[in-house]
Amino acid sequence: MPEPSNRRQDFLTRLRCRPRRNRTTAAIRDLVRETLLSPADFILPLFVIDGENGEEPIASMPGISRLTPDRIATAAKEAHGLGVGAVALFPALPDGLKDRTATESTNPKGLLQRTIQRLKDEVADVIVITDVAMDPYSSDGHDGLIKDGKILNDPTLEILADMAISQAAAGADLVAPSDMMDGRIGYIRAALDESGHADVGILAYSAKYASAFYGPFRDALDSAPKEGDKKTYQMDPANRREALREVELDIDEGADIVMVKPALAYLDVISAVKATSSVPVAAYQVSGEYAMMHAAAQNGWLDSDAIVHETLLAIKRAGADMILTYAAPAAARMLGA
Ligand code: PBG
Repeated sequence: MPEPSNRRQDFLTRLRCRPRRNRTTAAIRDLVRETLLSPADFILPLFVIDGENGEEPIASMPGISRLTPDRIATAAKEAHGLGVGAVALFPALPDGLKDRTATESTNPKGLLQRTIQRLKDEVADVIVITDVAMDPYSSDGHDGLIKDGKILNDPTLEILADMAISQAAAGADLVAPSDMMDGRIGYIRAALDESGHADVGILAYSAKYASAFYGPFRDALDSAPKEGDKKTYQMDPANRREALREVELDIDEGADIVMVKPALAYLDVISAVKATSSVPVAAYQVSGEYAMMHAAAQNGWLDSDAIVHETLLAIKRAGADMILTYAAPAAARMLGA
């Protein structure tokens, strides 16, 4: 190699900052790492079906199945053993139990209610989070009551409030309204307080976008809207400041934790919410995010462990205090749990 020119040599003599020093060994990289993931950061979403000792794989979510309540308890125990202390439940119901007003959602002997009780009996200290929205129970597949093609906000609140009370009565620790109706956090807070459930918290899906990433979830629950889309209630993916408004309103109405959903395509929103929120911030790595990573991994195009770890790290780095992820057990194992 020829001698570098004087100018180049000069430059190198004056080069004092070499960021690579902090990357030299695994030990120094461990020391300077800014973001640490822990299994305690994760919340595991679980799909519930009725029956005993059964499971149904979900084609668009490799490795994920709908589970009967006994298997849900086993899955929650396993997660708990790995350090994942919280689960979020989503019931999948047969069409016969769906109607326009989501009547089944307040059945004290309903699938969700029975599953909550079972979890509380069998895995006492697991945190049980339940979804408050009409869609799994609605014959229209919408999160709100629909009339002449319109989603009715205020009448929906009454249904959501009753649903939240029923979940709290069954033993839910946190109810998680995912419907995006106006005023639902305050309405549900009032309903819970009034019915003796002041200790039950609200995890608000505050900035929930009308996203194409929910496709596999709607397969899992067979809950896709029969007509139209969810754009009159879920947020426009183009908007960030609007997320701050939703978060501010939810905190004002009594949310204990706010959420941004989906996660990976909305890191800027997570970051902006974290900067202004006075309550903890959750992010949901949704079904489509899971499906993308695992479809590529099945093709041998991506390393699924590495990609799961990197995306979760990115979501936490952006500002999430906790992450709902279907990959929670795998990620916890990766972290050495
Ligand atoms: C229902 C609900 C949805 C998700 C969580 N709660 C679907 C939707 O709004 O259509 C999506 C979760 C996922 O995709 O993993 N209100």
